[in-house]
Amino acid sequence: MAFQRACALDDLWQGEMQVIEINGTEVLLVHTDEGQVVATQAVCPHQEVCLGDGDLKGNTLTCRQHLWQFDVTTGKGLNPTHAELAIYPIKVEGDVVYVELEGVEPKYAHS
Ligand code: FES
Repeated sequence: MAFQRACALDDLWQGEMQVIEINGTEVLLVHTDEGQVVATQAVCPHQEVCLGDGDLKGNTLTCRQHLWQFDVTTGKGLNPTHAELAIYPIKVEGDVVYVELEGVEPKYAHS
């Protein structure tokens, strides 16, 4: 599979995030305050709550359910550190964001 069109960059403002579905897979697109665009798994590794309902401050995404925190640019768990988000490769060409889904699976840490 190849990169799939995800959205127009104009539809994803800096400091915002949104969940989109690509070929049946939900992906969280984030446009950071610093202008970086990233794509992560859309569900929290803890109890699979939608991360699109979380709180984004800088590069830190906080899940609304139990307040686990992640660095969206790396996927690394900040609290707790044993959890991690899967990161999908992306590319931005012109005004279009593309995401590659193949070979990336959501990560879970149910405890
Ligand atoms: S479901 Fe996200 S922190 Fe528990």
